[in-house]
Amino acid sequence: MNPALTKIAAQMSNLTGVRAIMKDIIETLQSNKGQELINLSAGNPLILSEVEQLWRDCTADLLASSEYGEVVCRYGSSQGYAPFIEAIANDFNKRYGLKLTERNILITPGSQTLYFYAANCFGGYTSSGQLKQIVLPLSPDYTGYGGVCLVPEALIAYKPSLDIDASAHRFKYRPDFSQLSITDDTGCVIFSRPCNPTGNVLTDDEVKKIADLAAPYDVPVLIDSAYAPPFPALNFTDMSLIFGENILHCTSLSKAGLPGERIGIAIGNEKLIQVLESFQTNANLHSSRYGQAIAARAINSGALVQIAEQVIRPFYQNKFAVLENTLNEAMPNNLPWFLHRGEGAIFAWLWLQDLPITDWELYQELKQVGVIVVPGSTFFPGLQEEWQHKHQCVRISLTGSDEEIVTGMQRLAKVAEQVYQRAAVSA
Ligand SMILES: Cc1ncc(COP(=O)(O)O)c(C=O)c1O
Repeated sequence: MNPALTKIAAQMSNLTGVRAIMKDIIETLQSNKGQELINLSAGNPLILSEVEQLWRDCTADLLASSEYGEVVCRYGSSQGYAPFIEAIANDFNKRYGLKLTERNILITPGSQTLYFYAANCFGGYTSSGQLKQIVLPLSPDYTGYGGVCLVPEALIAYKPSLDIDASAHRFKYRPDFSQLSITDDTGCVIFSRPCNPTGNVLTDDEVKKIADLAAPYDVPVLIDSAYAPPFPALNFTDMSLIFGENILHCTSLSKAGLPGERIGIAIGNEKLIQVLESFQTNANLHSSRYGQAIAARAINSGALVQIAEQVIRPFYQNKFAVLENTLNEAMPNNLPWFLHRGEGAIFAWLWLQDLPITDWELYQELKQVGVIVVPGSTFFPGLQEEWQHKHQCVRISLTGSDEEIVTGMQRLAKVAEQVYQRAAVSA
């Protein structure tokens, strides 16, 4: 069958960017069964035994309670499962001195869905025909923002400025406020903090500055906190959560061990929550309630925060240290390699300045030595202008074993050295 597709369907099924890479990675893994491949591409968190046990215990508690039927045998409100919303409100109020009521919170099936709602509620054409832009203030950022808007021309991203520490082979992206433009044409602003793919954490001041730029135009600022405290607490540097009238604090339980349960959480102004909730009612009624019921238990008991801080965070912070130490030892000092400061999330981001081949070609060469990373150019959704830097980076997942990370980085160092050498010889 070959049904005629709408423009939206064609756009949604387009095999570009990260979808093309993921297809290639899956095919590579399947066709190389038996051969050892070090897969450092995944965004899937590892199953940590303490985390799995927490969810097992909460499930046993739910199964033994009279609440069980109410949770799985009934529809609920579009806003989310009331005991879970109450748990979030109490926890955030106590922890951050807020005055949230249930009207400030919406639960969605994963936070990806939340960005889809927001991108289409606030970005795209208004009834008077004005194009409202979805602004990504610092590119690179989460590749999943690339497909969220049904009006693709609405998405616009800004090049960052680079803080480079050449002798240490480290760098950090910062928002370039001399370029960033938030105006009456802006519909909403989105960024991840900590950032997937780079591990960057925008400073508190940078976040406040972005929110202040957006406030006069009543522009919502969505802070994607999928890796932020209090759970999963995948920040390796101090950061405060910033709340405000035009800020939607968005988070997820995916990196706290429940990616399969699809739980996204939006916290913010009641009016913004209402708009998103109506969208949700039309799209899917409401999020599954089982995950919310067990998460309410883990939050109320304090166990989730404790495991996030004492198990999840140190686990990935240690992986980053392994990766960093291996690159320090294995990478030739005379190569212009720069590792992004590891401030959080579950990835490392490596920039090879003036790389003589593209990131795609480097990805192919790394596959030849049994190492899979993700080419960096897939993480610049909305950035229209050509920029060589886009083709000089790779994202390395911290979800491998220590041995895989060490071997993977040693092989990457060798390949990088050969690539620069080849170019020098043929020059
Ligand atoms: C920065 C960021 N935001 C959002 C998501 C989507 O997560 P979920 O829909 O599972 O909440 C991810 C997933 O990897 C992510 O890395």
